[in-house]
Amino acid sequence: MTRRHVLDVTDFTASEIVSILDLAERPIESLGRPLDGAGAALIFEKPSNRTRHSMEMAVAQLGGHPVYTRGEEVGFDTREPVEDIGKIMAGYHQVIAARVFDHATLDRLVAAVDSLDGASTIVVNMLSDRSHPLQAFADALTMRQRLGELESKTVAYIGDYNNVARSLAEISLLLGMKVRISCPPAFAADEAELERLSLIGSGDVLQTARPHDAVAGAHAVHTDTWVSMGQEAEKEVRRRMFEGFAVDAAMMSLAADDAVFMHCLPAYRGFEVTADVIDGPQSVVFQQGHNRMHAARAVLAFARRNGERA
Ligand code: CP
Ligand code: NVA
Repeated sequence: MTRRHVLDVTDFTASEIVSILDLAERPIESLGRPLDGAGAALIFEKPSNRTRHSMEMAVAQLGGHPVYTRGEEVGFDTREPVEDIGKIMAGYHQVIAARVFDHATLDRLVAAVDSLDGASTIVVNMLSDRSHPLQAFADALTMRQRLGELESKTVAYIGDYNNVARSLAEISLLLGMKVRISCPPAFAADEAELERLSLIGSGDVLQTARPHDAVAGAHAVHTDTWVSMGQEAEKEVRRRMFEGFAVDAAMMSLAADDAVFMHCLPAYRGFEVTADVIDGPQSVVFQQGHNRMHAARAVLAFARRNGERA
């Protein structure tokens, strides 16, 4: 089997991740057309700017045809079972990519596709409650472009330990980095999660309730929204619970001199980050956002052919 599903960063080894990052920096034409004439279903149960556009462009650059679909149109388990949707779409598409509320939906799509004889379709996670691997590949690409060799460098994540943070921690550890996490207790990684992370790559992961300690000496400082999609009703409660965890200039001053500020976007200035930081000279958020397309193209090309021509 030469195809690979893309549900989590940990579906890939460290050397495969490096191959994908290398592919992302190659001229588009050099990748050939691994999706030549193929369909790619892009299904969104939640809104998106970066993921939709970067994936549509990546599919087109690889010779394929993206079909954007709103979640309610296919209706996972409301209009018909996830399994039926997966089996039908596998007859039209070489890629079924989905942004879902429940990560189990992706697992069920994989099982449905794999149950078909001679299936060649891959399933790609475009953000679930658990993880955001396409974001993590762009994050790693951006850090490598800005910081050079990543091994032994330190990445700090301040905020909500959620999908983006989990995938960032995984890819950073796999690439040999030190990971420092700081979250309010109610939004922190639990002991089992920290133990799981400690078994990945460098295994060098520490969590602290003091964000300034996490940022001290870090080469990249990341955050994400305090109010993820679907949590809008909790906005004011969350703002209070995250008090003290905004990335501001004072916090950035504790990081390494040439540290970069990163955010997957969309960002809420005055919540998780102050405007002077995200709009300031250390911020690389637009390079990071643009890298979503290059990373997506590389991930799709690699997953389609398992890297044999990478
Ligand atoms: N970072 C990210 O996934 O952005 P979108 O929600 O706009 O796709
Ligand atoms: N944690 C955020 C990421 C958005 C890209 C969310 O789940 O909404």
